[in-house]
Amino acid sequence: MPTAKRKDDRLWGGRFDTAPNAHFDAFQRSFAFDQRLLPYEIAVDRAWAKALEPIGIFTAYEVQLTLAALDRIAKRAATDSEWLEHFGADAEDVHHFVEKALVEELGPLGWKLHTGRSRNELVATDFRLFIRAAAKQTQHAVAAAVQALLAQAKTHLGVPMAGMTHTQHAQPILLSHFLLAQAESLTRDIPRLQSAAQSADACPMGSGALAGNSFNINREAIASDLGFSKVTANSLDAVSDRDFALDYLFALSGIATHLSRIAEDYVLFASQEFAYVQLSDEYSTGSSLMPQKKNPDSWELIRGKSGRITAALLALLTTLKGLPTSYQRDLQEDKESLFTAHDQINAMLAVAAGAISTTSFRVDRLRQAASNPVLLATEAADYLVRKGVPFRQAHDIVGKVLREAEQTGKSWVDLPLETLQQLSPSFGPDFADGLNVISALAAKKVSGGTAPESVRAAITDLESRLLKLGA
Ligand code: ARG
Repeated sequence: MPTAKRKDDRLWGGRFDTAPNAHFDAFQRSFAFDQRLLPYEIAVDRAWAKALEPIGIFTAYEVQLTLAALDRIAKRAATDSEWLEHFGADAEDVHHFVEKALVEELGPLGWKLHTGRSRNELVATDFRLFIRAAAKQTQHAVAAAVQALLAQAKTHLGVPMAGMTHTQHAQPILLSHFLLAQAESLTRDIPRLQSAAQSADACPMGSGALAGNSFNINREAIASDLGFSKVTANSLDAVSDRDFALDYLFALSGIATHLSRIAEDYVLFASQEFAYVQLSDEYSTGSSLMPQKKNPDSWELIRGKSGRITAALLALLTTLKGLPTSYQRDLQEDKESLFTAHDQINAMLAVAAGAISTTSFRVDRLRQAASNPVLLATEAADYLVRKGVPFRQAHDIVGKVLREAEQTGKSWVDLPLETLQQLSPSFGPDFADGLNVISALAAKKVSGGTAPESVRAAITDLESRLLKLGA
């Protein structure tokens, strides 16, 4: 690949005789993806321009000119995509882009803004600002999905279903209890997002390339101008730290994992075997071959996409592992997959919230499954315990009752009292009265249980926790 004599406006050309190899040059550029940081870059540039005045680098007039030029650049970039593409074509990264644009606007004055600072601190600062905003956006999207579940839980209060473990019928529960379980898992993601935003809340500006700033720049003023509550503690750490990005990706992986599990519930429940839910047409697709098909693609895609969210976390962990302390160019790899993960999670959450809100629950099917007498076996054991039989023995007796029923081809709740009494004299005439779904549900009235009163309290409790979380 031929290399041309340099004659360009790179940020670092002074000591180089020749321009970089064209393949390598394309390989190292990041503007294609880091232009997403432009609004944050401009915000940092504005704060930096103001901070250059008290230390005598800029006059008040130069600050004014620079701020006005930065505003024009921000506006043009937001409205003139042709210019952005054309002018950005030979920008190495977002930092280079703004400097080039500033020089075009202001002439040599544009070159003064970079005094005492490095792209290493700029990129860390821009990325922190991005993640703080991103975490807030994702938090709202999580809250909307939780609200969709809460609304369905409130609508269906009182509807029983067959609770399962190991995908086997276990004990009756309320549908609302099930929906609240899904809602709880997503609610736990909110403080994780908030904590990621907190770990991004320290301003690296003033760290220089690695060693700090020689002009005694007012770091605290820049930090508060940008909405950070503090400055980073160590310049070297500030340019190498990407823990805030890891924290955000971990929070996103948590959401993806929860959504993927919720997706699995709806895919199963939409199957002909369960037929517990009917997904709306809006969130389903058909088959190109089989006319009868209505597929739960919204949930399948949500489940499938969870892979790339977790992958983004693993990718960054792998990039960071083994990096020497300080800035390394490897760190440029922190952005692309995080941006994608952020976009995908927000799309997944929006589709999930919509799919949940528009799902109709087949109350007939849910009730029918809840009436499977097998679900009451534990209640029978509990009955014997109340009569003084030790639980392990009660468990064994009920097992024998179920076997007896199986052998005689009857439902065990239809066995005559005499048969039951042969297996345990503790069975009395009051046994049959309490043996139904309603009393099984009502018995679970501990907090966090599935009794209607507990579920009602759980709804109120979740709503107040969401309010406290600011969601
Ligand atoms: N584009 C780089 C990044 O995203 C920032 C530039 C720092 N480059 C450098 N040679 N020190 O990390």
